[in-house]
This record gives sequence, C-alpha cells and structure tokens, in this order.
Amino acid sequence: MSISQFKQTINKFATGVTVVTAYNNAPVGLTVNSFTSVSLDPMLILFNLDKKISSLDVFLKTNYFNVNILADSQKNIASIFYKKDIDRFTKVNYRPSRNNIPILANIHGLLECQKYKIVEAGDHYLFICKIVNIVVDETKKPLVFYNSKFCNIA
Ligand SMILES: Cc1cc2nc3c(=O)[nH]c(=O)nc-3n(C[C@H](O)[C@H](O)[C@H](O)COP(=O)(O)O)c2cc1C
Repeated sequence: MSISQFKQTINKFATGVTVVTAYNNAPVGLTVNSFTSVSLDPMLILFNLDKKISSLDVFLKTNYFNVNILADSQKNIASIFYKKDIDRFTKVNYRPSRNNIPILANIHGLLECQKYKIVEAGDHYLFICKIVNIVVDETKKPLVFYNSKFCNIA
C-alpha cells in the first residue's frame, strides 16, 4: 500500500468543487473538494485544509467562512484558486457577505458558515462549521472533479 495507490483510489470518488473563502485585512480563498455535510441538528459541514496552505493562519484565527459551490461554467475559477502565487481576488468578481467574507459571482450555491470545531488530523486540519445561511441557484449545475479532471454532468 502506497500514497500514490491511495491518491489513485481517492481520485475515483467524484466530488463537487468549492472555493472556500475567509477574510482578515484582505480576502483569502482556495479550491477545496474535501467539503461534506456532517450533521443536520445542528446543521454542520466540514472541509479539510492542508497545514501548508498560505492562508492557514487566517482560517485558524477567524470565525466565519464561505463555501462557494462552483457551477459547471467555472473551471477557470477553480484554476485561479488552486494556482500558486497569483493575486486571486483581482481575477474574479465577488462581493462581501455581512461578515465581509467573499461571495464569488455566478456560483451554483453558497453556504455561509461559522467555525464550530477544528480537529487536527495528520497533515491537515478538519474545519467543522455551523451553517448560518444558504443560497442556491437552481438554474445552474455543479462543477464535478473526477479522476484528476474537472467535468460537467449531463
Ligand atoms: C479539485 C481540487 C480540490 C482541492 N481540495 C483541497 C482541499 O480540500 N484542501 C486543501 O487544503 N487543498 C485543496 N486543494 C489544493 C489547493 O486548492 C491548492 O493547494 C491551493 O493553491 C492552496 O492555496 P495557497 O496557494 O494559497 O496555499 C485542491 C485542489 C484542487 C484542484
């Protein structure tokens, strides 16, 4: 059993694609597909962040995050938010939420979240968050990530 075998197997699990955003003096955000629902009562979700991401301090010390669920037309947005060393927020349209957290334009769905619990797990942190607001654009379809590629559902 090797890490590459583990990665190859995980890549066979199709996911949606989100950009998780936060704010501390400036907006931060990254492409995330580790998003999942956790609990209905209270309504909880989680996402995992690598301990090496550049914005980790902001996520550890602030309390509000937005999970922007990308639409199938937003592969370019997913690329902007995983490429290193680019000024991401000058390349996308967004507006601030009531908590000043970026909401990207033209997304399929939005989950505004409040930090509930952080769990350290190996080389990542699990961010478990309580939902404070939900918005869905039913006219759009989600972007999918499968086998290391962005795909559209039929
Ligand atoms: C489809 C996809 C999903 C990703 N999911 C995650 C994730 O769940 N957690 C994470 O820490 N990084 C994830 N990444 C990697 C980050 O988006 C990438 O490392 C990003 O550059 C980190 O931000 P930074 O450059 O500001 O450090 C994902 C990348 C892709 C392409």
